[in-house]
Amino acid sequence: MAVQNKSASRLSTKAVAAILLLTPFLVLPTYGQQDSTCVTTYDPTKDYFPDKSEVDGGALFSITYNLNYKILKNTSLNTTYVLTQCGTPIPNATIIPQTNTTIFIQIPVTNLASLATTAVSYIEMLGKQAAIKAVDTEGLVSSPCVQAGLEKGTIIGLEDSNSTLRVEQMKKVDIVFSSYGVDPGTENKTVITSEVEDPSPLN
Ligand SMILES: *[C@@H]1O[C@H](CO)[C@@H](O)[C@H](O)[C@H]1NC(C)=O
Ligand SMILES: *[C@@H]1O[C@H](CO)[C@@H](O)[C@H](O)[C@H]1NC(C)=O
Ligand SMILES: *[C@@H]1O[C@H](CO)[C@@H](O)[C@H](O)[C@H]1NC(C)=O
Ligand SMILES: *[C@@H]1O[C@H](CO)[C@@H](O)[C@H](O)[C@H]1NC(C)=O
Ligand SMILES: *[C@@H]1O[C@H](CO)[C@@H](O)[C@H](O)[C@H]1NC(C)=O
Ligand SMILES: *[C@@H]1O[C@H](CO)[C@@H](O)[C@H](O)[C@H]1NC(C)=O
Repeated sequence: MAVQNKSASRLSTKAVAAILLLTPFLVLPTYGQQDSTCVTTYDPTKDYFPDKSEVDGGALFSITYNLNYKILKNTSLNTTYVLTQCGTPIPNATIIPQTNTTIFIQIPVTNLASLATTAVSYIEMLGKQAAIKAVDTEGLVSSPCVQAGLEKGTIIGLEDSNSTLRVEQMKKVDIVFSSYGVDPGTENKTVITSEVEDPSPLN
């Protein structure tokens, strides 16, 4: 089994902030496992994230690593995302207080909805298009792969007019990426990034 170098990716511009925020949700560290598979034999002494990112140019978010989970904070909103490697234990309330601004997510995420057309692009850049199961404003998503998925029915377009159906659709995904607002019932699994408001070239 290949062991990844402990090289840290250094990220220095705010422009990559949104991509970085998405990355920890989606990218599985390469420690000899297949992508999208869960750990089957948990080793409490093992570092499941040998390849670490460092934030050296962003003031509004932070990442800290533990052996089997990482903590991503949006420090402007004071939201904490506890990202636990699938198949390993989620830190309990003694370790991480369970507040209404703490969101627990198992990674890698394999089943997500994007309310924002912008997040679709980042997810595809990370090579995680297969995790996209639902999109909003689907007519505005330029990705040919997502459009093909919508046609085949492997990706659903979120319902706009029937809120009951929309709630049912949202129940089927593990995480929701949004630029504005949170759908009812998805408070525990929505990640908001505001790249569409960013005045930089990112927008
Ligand atoms: C952020 O969250 C921490 C822990 O819940 C809390 O102590 C602090 O007051 C919060 N800060 C803001 C600005 O909301
Ligand atoms: C929480 O996890 C820690 C470390 O695994 C353990 O020592 C502690 O007993 C756990 N607490 C509860 C309430 O389960
Ligand atoms: C979280 O809980 C605090 C107090 O318990 C409350 O003031 C705040 O409005 C809640 N925030 C959300 C997003 O529900
Ligand atoms: C809305 O969706 C629900 C759940 O799928 C369905 O039962 C209901 O008939 C739909 N309402 C309308 C007006 O289409
Ligand atoms: C969010 O998580 C909290 C704590 O696990 C739970 O009490 C609450 O019902 C959840 N809310 C939703 C909308 O799932
Ligand atoms: C933090 O949350 C705010 C409000 O939801 C959002 O506008 C911002 O983009 C988030 N920060 C990052 C780095 O995504």
